[in-house]
Amino acid sequence: MATFQLDEIKQRQRLEWQAAAPGWKKWERMIIQSLQPVADMLIKNAGITSGNTVLDMATGTGEPALTIAKIVGPGGRVVGMDLSPDMLDVAKERMVSQGLNNVTFQVNEHDDLPAFPDNSFDAAVCRFGLMFMPDPVRVLRAIRRVLKPGRKVSVAVWGPPERAPFFTTPMKAVSKHVPEMKPLAPGTPGGPFAIPSQEMLGSIFKKAGFSNFQSQTTDVTVVQAESPEEYWEAITEVAGPIVFLLSKMTVEKKNAIREDVIETVRGLFPAGPVRLGGEAIVGSGTKPSV
Ligand SMILES: C[S@@+](CC[C@H](N)C(=O)[O-])C[C@H]1O[C@@H](n2cnc3c(N)ncnc32)[C@H](O)[C@@H]1O
Repeated sequence: MATFQLDEIKQRQRLEWQAAAPGWKKWERMIIQSLQPVADMLIKNAGITSGNTVLDMATGTGEPALTIAKIVGPGGRVVGMDLSPDMLDVAKERMVSQGLNNVTFQVNEHDDLPAFPDNSFDAAVCRFGLMFMPDPVRVLRAIRRVLKPGRKVSVAVWGPPERAPFFTTPMKAVSKHVPEMKPLAPGTPGGPFAIPSQEMLGSIFKKAGFSNFQSQTTDVTVVQAESPEEYWEAITEVAGPIVFLLSKMTVEKKNAIREDVIETVRGLFPAGPVRLGGEAIVGSGTKPSV
């Protein structure tokens, strides 16, 4: 892919997640609760323990970084990096409110991570970030460089779109009402389904120079809402690509899409609370010792 296309993906990513930052603050409780099991898997698979120095790539509003900060304790350190300064501002607020002082948050200016020396981290994680990156092999290679030999990186990405109704339900309605807005095909860099299989994730790990790739899938409930209306509110304030897409539409179009989505979701959950999620792929690899 040409450099300008890579830059374009990054710029779009920054805009999308800047737009979603207020939503991540508003829906903090739901997001934390829904995604915590994935954080726990990443932490276990990366072998994170007390005293470690850990990198959290694409930390967003600070997870799993803040969970890890409690595990590594005062003798450890966590660095959370993200493209979006507004997401990181929420992360910093959360850090202060939790009384943590062993975490630093930094804007990711360059996917080669030039700010960090070789062999400086005991572990690295990336929860639902890698698939948004224009060149995931490049980022993983940089993570390998900064990891100490024999240490692990652990990531979570979304599996195929047909197993992720939390996201595809509104996107189907968008396509119906605005046919020229086509969702990115699975496997296309920079979208939620850019790395939709364990095989593809494994090949990215291999190209980046990791050994001992291991992966599994897990079902994740993303949105827990009292009603279809509340589901609509949450997903259109939290899912970066959707927040950004809708911000460019007329009120009439947005309302038509909203009505469609609410009707579909009511059909799925006629009796009340809505639970919609997706299949996550959780993968890890080890930096070879020599
Ligand atoms: C779905 S959010 C995940 C946030 C957090 N890790 C979590 O699980 O709660 C995706 C995040 O990836 C970040 N992101 C996308 N591309 C990135 C890149 N090239 N470098 C750093 N962060 C990136 C976005 O800014 C956004 O905050």
